Order: sequence, then structure tokens, then C-alpha cells
Amino acid sequence: MLNWDSPLDVGSVNINHNKPQTSVNEKTEDRAGHSAVNKLEPIRAMDKRVINGDADINQLLPLRYSWAWKYFLNANKNHWTPLDINMTQDIHDYHNKLTEAEKHMYQNVMAYLTTSDILAMRNIGLAVMEKMSAPELQIYQARQVYEEALHTWAYQHCIETLGLEQGEIYNRYRVVPAIYRKIEIANKRLNTILQADIDLRSQKGMHDFVLAYIFFAAVFEGSWFYNGFSPVFSLQRRGLMKGTAEQLQYIMRDEVMHCSFGIRTIKQIIVENKLVVDEDSVAEMWDEALQAETDYAEYLMSEPILGYTKEQHIEQFRYIANRRARQLKMSEPFPGAECALTWLDEQANVRKEKNFFETRVTEYQTGGGLLWE
Ligand SMILES: [Fe+2]
Ligand SMILES: [Fe+2]
Repeated sequence: MLNWDSPLDVGSVNINHNKPQTSVNEKTEDRAGHSAVNKLEPIRAMDKRVINGDADINQLLPLRYSWAWKYFLNANKNHWTPLDINMTQDIHDYHNKLTEAEKHMYQNVMAYLTTSDILAMRNIGLAVMEKMSAPELQIYQARQVYEEALHTWAYQHCIETLGLEQGEIYNRYRVVPAIYRKIEIANKRLNTILQADIDLRSQKGMHDFVLAYIFFAAVFEGSWFYNGFSPVFSLQRRGLMKGTAEQLQYIMRDEVMHCSFGIRTIKQIIVENKLVVDEDSVAEMWDEALQAETDYAEYLMSEPILGYTKEQHIEQFRYIANRRARQLKMSEPFPGAECALTWLDEQANVRKEKNFFETRVTEYQTGGGLLWE
């Protein structure tokens, strides 16, 4: 009998592992000739796998990946909506204080982020999540899908509030090569995951999947996205566009979790499948990402911006890339890269005590409990 008060306690359960598992529909007859559904053996945590597991996907407990459940609980501490943040000052700043170069930077940051976040939502929700075979992993990813949609709303809210030409901003990634290139690379790198017929029972299929997942978690979310907010944070440092920056602070907090969860999951897949990741392929991925980030930075900051340079943006990408590689227990792609934005961690952190605004957000979000790595 399963102990509902302590479902992880399987010590008293007599499990015969040699017996083949019965299906829900299998029936036996009792002495009176009445049919009855066979009692199913409890599932064992150790039978769960990230991919290709045999344990019942609809049964949450016993958890094997308790860390995944913690990510879900932690993600739910970051509750907010774009409407909770006061954008009034941003309207004034944008139309009266920003230079043309700063407007150019702001618009293209938004154009890049909004396209990327939809891509992220589709990738995690339509491709990655369905490959997982433990519900505790899927539950966090379901939350991630929602968060990506929320981020898309946040950008849209900023773009609309400032009165920008929405059709033009949303179409911009198609006509600006430096933005299009990043989306093009993402589509190419994620194509293997999105293919329904990927063979995850083969080592090659699994390796392709892991490479694509590394791109998604470490490069796309963990480096491009992570670095993508900094130009707006540099405006915030100067007291400009503080509403937008606050939206991005909440988004960045989610993204740090997405990246961290993805890397944790990748490492688990590697162990479970005894994979040897081809580090040359990963190095090539980082080089390609750096080239795209360089072109993007040169376009964003084609005119000088007070307190933020393209060199800083590029160096920060290299520095973050090294951090992601270390998290993956892989070689640093850019040895010697240094933190170019020493103010970033402080600037990006949501500080409750600052109480920027008197709205529901400060009342119900419990950001102090969130982890950054
Ligand atoms: Fe996002
Ligand atoms: Fe994300």
C-alpha cells in the first residue's frame, strides 16, 4: 500500500522488480469470479530518466529530480505582470531625454528581445518539454513557457506605452541583418530539437539533442539574452527608462533560472546516457555566437552612448560565455575575458527595499528568496 503521508518512503513496500509491470487495463478474477483491476506496483524514483524513462509520466511522486521541483517552487516566487510597473517616467524620458543614438539602441534591443522570447517559448514548449520523461521536469518547463509569454507581453507593453510604431518594430528583425543573423542561428541550432522524428534512442540523436540544448540554455538564454538587457540597464544607471529596466529586471531573474535549469538538465542527460560531448562542436558554437553578438553590438552602438560601449558589450558576452562553460564543466571558450560591466549584478538585482512604486508587486513578490545561479 502506498503511504500517502510519506510517498517517498518505499522501504515498507514489497517490490518484486523481476515481475513484469501490469498495465492499467489488465484484469484478474477473484475467487468469486469477479474481475478486478490489478494492483500496480509503485513506481520507483530510480526508474525515472530525463529522457527515455519508463516510469509513469503522470505520477509526480516519488521525485527523482527534487532539484527540478525546487526550481518550480522558486520560480513561483517571482510573480509580476507588466501592468504592475509604472511606465510614466519612461514616456517622458524617451520623448524628451534620449538621444537619437539611445533611441536606436532601445528600439533594437526591444526588437531583438521580443522575437527571441517567442522563439524561446516555442522551443521549450513545443520541442524540449515533450522529450522529457519525468513530470517534475515538465512542470518547471510549463512554468517557463508561461514566463516566456509574459516576457513577450512585457516588451509589447513597453513598445505600445512609448507609442513606438509596433508594426515596424516587430518587423525589424527581418530587415536588420545583425538581428536577423541571431535569429537565423537560433533556428538552425534548434532545428534538430524541433524535428519530430529525432531518434533519441540512438547516441547520435541524443548527442544532437544535447548540443542543441546547450545552445538554447547556455548561448541563447544564458549569454545572448543575459547580455541583451545590459544596454537598457546602462540607461537605468543614469536615471533613464527606469520602468523598462524594471521590467527587464524581472525578466532577467526568470532567464537566469531558465539557463540554470537547462544546464542542470543537460548535465543530467550527459550522465544518464554516458555521453561524451564533442567540445570542438561546442567551441564552434561559441565562436559563431560571438561573431553574431559582435555584429549586433556594432549595430546597436553604431553611435556612441554615454556610459556604454560596444567593446564592453562584446567583452561581457565573452565573460558570461566562460561562466556558462564552467557551469557545464567544459573548457572556457574565451580564456582571459574580463567582467566589463562591474555594475551589472547590482544594477540588475530587484531590490524590494527600494520600493520604486507602490503597487501590488512589492506586496506579493518574494524576490528575496530567489537564487541567481
Ligand atoms: Fe524570456
Ligand atoms: Fe527564457
